[in-house]
Amino acid sequence: MKLDTIILAAGKGTRMRSDLPKVLHEVAGKSLLGHVCDAARSLKPRGIHVVYGHGGDAVPAALPDSDLSWVLQAEQLGTGHAVDQAMPSIQDDSIVLVLYGDVPLLGTKTLAELVGAVGDAPLALLTVALDDPASYGRIVRDDAGSVQRIVEAKDATAAELALNEINTGILAARASDMKRWLAAVGNDNAQGEYYLTDIVELAVSEGAKVADVQAPSEREALGVNSKLDLAVVERIYQSDACDALMADGLTIRDPARFDLRGTLAMGKDCIVDINVIVEGDVQLGDRVVVGPNTILRNCTVADDTRIDANCVIDQAAVGKGCLIGPFARLRPGAELKPEVHVGNFVEIKNSIVGHGSKANHLAYVGDSTVGDGVNIGAGTITANYDGANKHRTIIGDRASIGSNCVLVAPVTVGDGATIGAGSTIGKDTPAEQLTLTRAKQISVASWKRPIKVPK
Ligand code: UD1
Ligand code: CA
Repeated sequence: MKLDTIILAAGKGTRMRSDLPKVLHEVAGKSLLGHVCDAARSLKPRGIHVVYGHGGDAVPAALPDSDLSWVLQAEQLGTGHAVDQAMPSIQDDSIVLVLYGDVPLLGTKTLAELVGAVGDAPLALLTVALDDPASYGRIVRDDAGSVQRIVEAKDATAAELALNEINTGILAARASDMKRWLAAVGNDNAQGEYYLTDIVELAVSEGAKVADVQAPSEREALGVNSKLDLAVVERIYQSDACDALMADGLTIRDPARFDLRGTLAMGKDCIVDINVIVEGDVQLGDRVVVGPNTILRNCTVADDTRIDANCVIDQAAVGKGCLIGPFARLRPGAELKPEVHVGNFVEIKNSIVGHGSKANHLAYVGDSTVGDGVNIGAGTITANYDGANKHRTIIGDRASIGSNCVLVAPVTVGDGATIGAGSTIGKDTPAEQLTLTRAKQISVASWKRPIKVPK
């Protein structure tokens, strides 16, 4: 089956009260439009045509994906007009699926069912029954239950307003029919707009049957019009994401206090405590424990590693059996071999830290290669930046760096070297020796503490 998807995303979104175009507001760290594009992609269409207008080039600029075709609708003259803008680039033998850029939760299964309903019927609508049909278009059926037309709330009679089955706006039709119908749609209605919904009556007048698919839940068809809607949709997304992760075996201490803004893959028996945020692509091995208030972003954490409370792990690779945190920060390019300990207020960037090495308190390790079995004392930093360029620090296996040292890069500390506390190391240090730079300690026996002079 050949499919083209059209995503309507030209509207203004006044009720968001924002300078950002509505479809660029985010749910789970991804724009509303991004979610809809993903849903479209899941159906493997020939083309994804995004109709944009309000917000101008900001919308295409925010989604640089090469599989999207952008169609400008300079003036928003209605949903029918919007779809018509995309039709010239769609071949007649396609089925067209119309999606809205502000309806982000629609599932692949529902959309596939809708597209599949086009066959004998040239047009299929996604509808849902609502307790409060509010300002949605109403589905009008005849006595036999066949769909006759859609009436917009603003054009409806009192009897029509009482109908509670509504038009989600999502529909599918054969492209050749769609082109013919759209050419016949006028704008003689309460809003002076070209209504896409008018194609239903046109199809029926040609003697065609209109198929309808019920959305599996009201939630799937939710659109975002306000910041409140955005928060509601976010919670639904998160709740569904947690359900899926728990079904895969993840222990989530409280699904109401966990946020997934990307993808999480994990092995067996992982545990995630409260207020953990997962961003981008994150992979956990088996038995990984993540403490509360921790952010994991585009990182991998291997088996049996424990990350204690309040850590930020960003574009880092953490080996097996490590102990991280509390209050540790792993920045891009941090690669920890197995059994590394990284304690509180330790920052590691663009560095490899060898097997079993430790930096347990208050340290900065940047642009470094740290060997196996190294101990980095409290308060020690690598001075990797000379104000213009970054340089590397190399620390050999089994080196022991005392507290409060500054390793001024480029510098190499030899294998098994010991660096005395408080040293500033600007030259390479020999292996297996003690190196220290320390002013001599003196005591002044004759010294008298100043006394306050009476006024
Ligand atoms: C539309 C439907 C209504 C349905 C409702 C579901 C019509 C005439 N009415 O109403 O039956 O119940 O959606 O939410 O279709 N858009 C454009 N260009 C335009 C106009 C709209 O791109 O010229 C986009 C909007 O950005 C939005 C979508 O189309 O994503 C729907 O537009 P909106 O104005 O919200 O439709 P409604 O009037 O609510
Ligand atoms: Ca409207």
